[in-house]
Amino acid sequence: MAGSREGQLMRVVGQHSRGSRIAAAVVVAVLTGCALAFLYPDGLSQVQFAGQGNAKALYKAGPFGTVKGLRKNPVVISDESVNPRLGKILQQVAINNELIVALANSNMQGMLELWFTSIKKVGIKNYLVVALDDNIERFCKEKDVPVYRWDPDEGTDSAAKTGGSHQVSALKFRILREFLQLGYSVLLSDVDIVYIQNPFDHIYRDCDVESMTDGHSNETAYGYNDVFDEPAMGWSRFAHTMRIWVYNSGFFYIRPTVPAIELLDRVADRLSKEANAWDQEVFNEELFFPSHPGYEGLHASKRTMDIYLFMNSKVLFKTVRNDSYLKKLKPVIVHLNYHTNKYERAKAVIEFYVNGKQDALDRFPLGS
Ligand SMILES: *[C@@H]1O[C@H](CO)[C@@H](O)[C@H](O)[C@H]1NC(C)=O
Ligand SMILES: *[C@@H]1O[C@H](CO)[C@@H](O)[C@H](O)[C@H]1NC(C)=O
Repeated sequence: MAGSREGQLMRVVGQHSRGSRIAAAVVVAVLTGCALAFLYPDGLSQVQFAGQGNAKALYKAGPFGTVKGLRKNPVVISDESVNPRLGKILQQVAINNELIVALANSNMQGMLELWFTSIKKVGIKNYLVVALDDNIERFCKEKDVPVYRWDPDEGTDSAAKTGGSHQVSALKFRILREFLQLGYSVLLSDVDIVYIQNPFDHIYRDCDVESMTDGHSNETAYGYNDVFDEPAMGWSRFAHTMRIWVYNSGFFYIRPTVPAIELLDRVADRLSKEANAWDQEVFNEELFFPSHPGYEGLHASKRTMDIYLFMNSKVLFKTVRNDSYLKKLKPVIVHLNYHTNKYERAKAVIEFYVNGKQDALDRFPLGS
């Protein structure tokens, strides 16, 4: 789609240049203004203003059914100076400018081992552990796992130290920003995830954020109209509401675009100010709430991942294991996000999907 949009732009420029060289120069200047304004929205407000004003004149809507808005935003210019040490590691680890990234501290060592063992078994090479303490760094090196030791004093801020999983989740948005600034797309991954296929073969890459969902059915995952009933209103008793289960902030693919970086900044900023905020809730509020009086919403494009390919453990234990058709489908990953006994269930997932043990999932209750 981006290709055809770029083609359209080129055609517009082409037409103008045929008419007059001056017009062409103006159009090119305006287009450059648009690009610069997009890349540097704060620094170049005059250019941005010029770009916005003239954007109206540049686009002519095509015939009915042929127009399509932009969802694949341009990537930022990579900035090596942000973190040269990380930049070097990424040059070695990333493939096609993308990689899987997980943050881990010593509390997570058991799950982390299961996590990278499944990744290695699939044959995925472009993944990286961000080690939050020395012990995890040493462990990764021993196991020949690509590792980047995060140093709180090195980056742009030193707000966070290692701690429980809640602090880790706040920290991850700040660390992720550097990956994006360096020009890489990141598939952010919690460690309570089993890899069964290579996710990079199943990512669309057409949005700022492409995320797995906590939804457990087509409706809850992809959105539905939930009708609210207030009988006292009589004729207008039914109010229609748009509902969608939250995106899972423990597994999402994020492209290095301005809206994506703005999302990370907005989430990190709120998590640093709101003492009891839950990162997943904040992540979703920033992604979904529209602009309204007193509030400017984020305008990031988003895609929900397929619930049977990027499967949460509710889908697996509630639906899939009880459905003879769905049971035969091979997911890309399974995220044990809905359960507390993650290690046992993750091992059972491996038994079921990798080793073909048909009854491996049966002994677990639905919930935990
Ligand atoms: C969910 O959506 C898929 C794809 O559109 C469809 O094939 C499937 O039948 C739907 N499942 C249910 C239970 O409606
Ligand atoms: C789903 O499968 C599990 C394991 O086989 C079984 O214990 C459970 O009762 C089933 N649930 C339903 C609703 O059929």
